[in-house]
Amino acid sequence: MRSIKFSLWISSIILLLALEFLVSGRNTFLYAQEGFSQKNAYKGHDVFQNKGCIQCHAVYGRGGKGGPDLGKDKFFGTYLEFAAMMWNHFPRMEEKMEKKGLSFPQFSAEETEQLITYLAYIRYKGEPGNEFAGKKLLNSKGCVKCHKFGGRGGDIGPDITSELEYLSPIILVETMWNHGPDMMDIFEQNDIKRPQFKNNEIVDIAVAIKAYMSPTNRIPPGSYDLGDPSNGKILLQEKGCITCHSSRGTGGNLAPDFYSMDFNKSVTEIAGMMWNHAPEMWELMNRENITIPTFKKGEMADIIGYFYSIKLQDASGDEENGKNIVYNRDCLSCHSIKGEGSSIATDLARVDGLDNSLIVVNAMFNHASDMKKRHTEMKLEWPKLSGKDIADLVAYLNALSPAK
Ligand code: HEC
Ligand code: HEC
Ligand code: HEC
Ligand code: HEC
Repeated sequence: MRSIKFSLWISSIILLLALEFLVSGRNTFLYAQEGFSQKNAYKGHDVFQNKGCIQCHAVYGRGGKGGPDLGKDKFFGTYLEFAAMMWNHFPRMEEKMEKKGLSFPQFSAEETEQLITYLAYIRYKGEPGNEFAGKKLLNSKGCVKCHKFGGRGGDIGPDITSELEYLSPIILVETMWNHGPDMMDIFEQNDIKRPQFKNNEIVDIAVAIKAYMSPTNRIPPGSYDLGDPSNGKILLQEKGCITCHSSRGTGGNLAPDFYSMDFNKSVTEIAGMMWNHAPEMWELMNRENITIPTFKKGEMADIIGYFYSIKLQDASGDEENGKNIVYNRDCLSCHSIKGEGSSIATDLARVDGLDNSLIVVNAMFNHASDMKKRHTEMKLEWPKLSGKDIADLVAYLNALSPAK
């Protein structure tokens, strides 16, 4: 037994090192891993306001109406997929801006990172809850059979309206998970179906619980904060998750790879997925002699933050494809490469410092107005790019960089 544990421990350490390598080695976009933080999300919110985006874009109904609501069911993909989307919309967006007497704002590389983080955070945080829907759920999911709400309900379980922290939907699931195996028995004894959650249901429930608390209570600060992805990565290993699951191919093979899961969801929806699958996982854990993990406050959010960050990462681009784009997509109608091409715009081989995707994206957006003007004059079509196209361009421009 002891030696099995020891070898498990050793293989876990090896896994952790392998994960570390995967994340840092495969990616030239280090900013993305660091960038997905609460601090950057808040700063990105300021950028969103200060640069005037909010004049046309609402987030869940709050803000202008000139462009699409950026909250509604939106998942913008990786950092570069997001940048590509904005790039492709750029001409129409700029037209609308001109009509409002605005010009497209200039960004620093830092601000671009913060803005993208904020927009990813909108999705992570999810929609605000609905009290009415939540109250119905407390009934239909059976919570009132065991817990009291506003004086009504069963008393098999403790009073959850006395704990402020359950106003955070993620803490609510985390606690339910921790009590889960005990609750399972009680569900069975009372012949009650174990509740399953989809969409925004947990958030609705948290809002309903709030309605039953005394009105002076407020949502504790930080309730909706981003988890810390780098801690999440460590926790996946410490909690034994990657004994069964893998992360981009590294790990166990008893359960699906995290990278292949659909995390186009908010943090609570993902927590809900974990809760829904918990009985199967617990059973398998028992069979494999793995201690059922519990979470300290915030740890589940850290793990989900990590899931999010792996989905935001772009794989590094392909130099050869990048070269194809430059040579086949009109770029040389204006630019040149080492003198070959046109002299209307800069020689892309002579621009220094285009060595990271964020800087390239930023340079492109800061020059986008100029570029668009030229495209119109020369009757050229605006170049539509995918996230992968940009990654490939970065790889190519990086290889050309005069510093190399
Ligand atoms: C003057 C109005 C206006 C301003 C200001 C504006 N946008 Fe837009 N935006 C639009 C319009 C209109 C579209 C849709 C264009 C299209 O359909 O091609 C759009 C599209 C987008 C999209 C794609 C959304 C989707 O779901 O397809 C994103 C992302 C976006 N804008 C982000 C921003 C950001 C970030 C800023 C601030 C730097 C900003 N916008 C400022 C009008 C604006
Ligand atoms: C079959 C009865 C039963 C049902 C139905 C039930 N619970 Fe529970 N719940 C319990 C019991 C019993 C505990 C205490 C378990 C323990 O102490 O380990 C508990 C604990 C909890 C806790 C932790 C409370 C604390 O402070 O320790 C939360 C949060 C919770 N339940 C939420 C819910 C929600 C939300 C629902 C509906 C989706 C629900 N429960 C449905 C019986 C139930
Ligand atoms: C003993 C093996 C095992 C361990 C350990 C384990 N899981 Fe799982 N997990 C599974 C299996 C098997 C499934 C798929 C269950 C199913 O398909 O119904 C699953 C499903 C999931 C899902 C839902 C996937 C989906 O597509 O809906 C998530 C999220 C998840 N696990 C996260 C975790 C996390 C986080 C940990 C560590 C705290 C963990 N798992 C530990 C076996 C495990
Ligand atoms: C119709 C003319 C035109 C076309 C076509 C064009 N650009 Fe540009 N581009 C410009 C102008 C004008 C600027 C801004 C001034 C400058 O850098 O000379 C610019 C700037 C840039 C910059 C920023 C350079 C810097 O100094 O930081 C990059 C990167 C860039 N373009 C890439 C591309 C790529 C990749 C393509 C092809 C998909 C392309 N451009 C197609 C006109 C064009």
